[in-house]
Amino acid sequence: MSKAPLQPHRYEQLAKQLAGQIQAGRYRPGDKIPGTRLLAETHGVSINTVLQAQKLLENQGLIEAVPRSGFFVKWRAEEPAPLVKGPTKSQLKPILVEHQRLALDLIQATGSKTLVQLGAALPHESYFPGQELQRIAARISRNQDTGFMRYEVPPGLPSLCESLALRMLGYGCDVSAADILITNGCHEALIIALKCVADPGDVVLLESPTYYGLLQVVDTLGLRAVEIPCHPESGMDLGRVKDACQQWNVKACIVVSNFSNPLGSCPDKAQKQSLLSLLNDFNVPLVEDDIYGDLAFDGHRPTPYKHFATADTDGEVLYCSSFSKSVSPGLRVGWLSPGRYAEKAAYLKFTQNIASATLNQQVLDEYLRTGGMDRHVRKIRHHYATSVSQSIDLIKATFPNGTRTSQPRGGFVLWVQLPGEFDTAELYQKALAHKISIAPGYLFSSDQRFKNYFRINCAIPWESILFPALQTLARLLNESQQAKT
Ligand SMILES: Cc1ncc(COP(=O)(O)O)c(C=O)c1O
Repeated sequence: MSKAPLQPHRYEQLAKQLAGQIQAGRYRPGDKIPGTRLLAETHGVSINTVLQAQKLLENQGLIEAVPRSGFFVKWRAEEPAPLVKGPTKSQLKPILVEHQRLALDLIQATGSKTLVQLGAALPHESYFPGQELQRIAARISRNQDTGFMRYEVPPGLPSLCESLALRMLGYGCDVSAADILITNGCHEALIIALKCVADPGDVVLLESPTYYGLLQVVDTLGLRAVEIPCHPESGMDLGRVKDACQQWNVKACIVVSNFSNPLGSCPDKAQKQSLLSLLNDFNVPLVEDDIYGDLAFDGHRPTPYKHFATADTDGEVLYCSSFSKSVSPGLRVGWLSPGRYAEKAAYLKFTQNIASATLNQQVLDEYLRTGGMDRHVRKIRHHYATSVSQSIDLIKATFPNGTRTSQPRGGFVLWVQLPGEFDTAELYQKALAHKISIAPGYLFSSDQRFKNYFRINCAIPWESILFPALQTLARLLNESQQAKT
C-alpha cells in the first residue's frame, strides 16, 4: 500500500509563504517583517505556529531577531564577498603615495548640476535637512548677541563640544567636552590626528582598498603608507598588521571603523579589540575615522574603537568624525577626540585656520540638542538601506556575469568588482560621456591594484536617477564585453 505524501506542517507553509515574499522583494534586506500577533491574525494561525515559522526562517538565514524590535530580513552575509586583492607579504612595504591629484577632478565634478554623482560619496541634496537648518541659521543670524560673527577659537563652541561628548558617551566612549576639538570636517580631523603622531617620512598603515582622501592626506603629509588588505566584513588582515609592525617603526594605523569606504566593512567588537590590542603591543596609535557609524541600516550603531581604548586596554585612539555623511558636507563641521594630544591638536588647528565657522557650529549644536539630527538620521538610513539593496539586485541582474558587489550593512557606498578583463578607468570615461560619474578602482590604492573595481554612491533617489544611471552602466559594460569577444 503506497503511503500518502506527508503534508507540510502549517508553520512550514507559513515560513514558505514568507520566504517567497522575501525572495520576491516584498520585504527587502533590513525590512521588518510583520509582528507575531499580526501574522497570526492575518494567516488565521496560532501564535505558536508563527513562532515556529519565524524560527525556521531564522535557521534558514533569511531573517534575524533584533531584541525588543521583532524580526528583520537579513543582510546577505551568506553571499560571497567580493575578492579583495592585497599585496603579498613580500610586497608589503611602505611607499610614498603620489599623484593623488587625480581624485580632485572627481570632487570638483560634484559641483556639476548635470552630472549623476555616483562617483563622490556624498548624499544627494534632497537628503539634506535643508529647511530645518536654514530656519535655525536664520534665527541665530538675526540676533548679533548670539556671537555668530566672532571667532570660536579652538577647541570650538563649548556647547557643541558638550553635545558631541554626550553623543560619544551614548556610543560607549568615555569622553568629556574637554576631549573634543571642532574641525573643518572629518578631513581636517584626520590631518590633525596624523600630525599629532607622525612626522614626514614616517610609516603609517592604511586599509586596502582605502578612502582616497586618506591617500591624499598621506601624500601631502609626506608619510609612507603600508596598505593592509581588508576583509569586506572584518576589516584589516591582522596577520599583515603584525608583519608590518614587526618590520617597520609604524607611527599610526588608520581605519574607517564602521561601514568603511569603499568596502563597507564593520568589524565586530572582538575583532576591534584584537586589532587594538595588537597595535598596543607595538605602541601604535589608531586613528579612527567613524564618519559612517550612525548610518547602520538596522539602526544599531556599532561601537567605535575608542570605546575599547578607554574601557579595556590602554591602547591609543584618536577619534575623527563629522556631520558630512549624516547631515550636510557643506557646513564643514567635524570633530576630533585626540586623547592625550589635546593641547597639540588645538594648537595645530589654530595654526591651520584659526577656527571653524562659528555660525555653522551654532546651527549644528542646536540641531543636535533639539533631536533634529537623530530624527533625520532615522529617516535617511532607511532610504540608503533600500537604495543599496535595490542597487545590488539590479547589478546582479544586469551587469556582466561574474560581477560581484560588497554587502554593506550601513553607509551608502557599494564596491563593485567586475570580471578581470574590465578596466574601470575606461568605464569612467564612457560613463562621463553619458553624464554619469563613478569612482574608478585605481583611486583606492597607491598603485593600479583595483583596475577592475569601482565604487558607487547609492544615496541618490532611486526611481528618477540611480536606477536609470545603473542601467546605463550595465549597457556600457555589456557592450564593451561584446566588443571584446
Ligand atoms: C571615510 C571618509 N572620511 C572622511 C571623509 C571626508 O569627510 P568631511 O567632508 O567631513 O571632511 C569622507 C568623505 O567622503 C570619507 O568617506
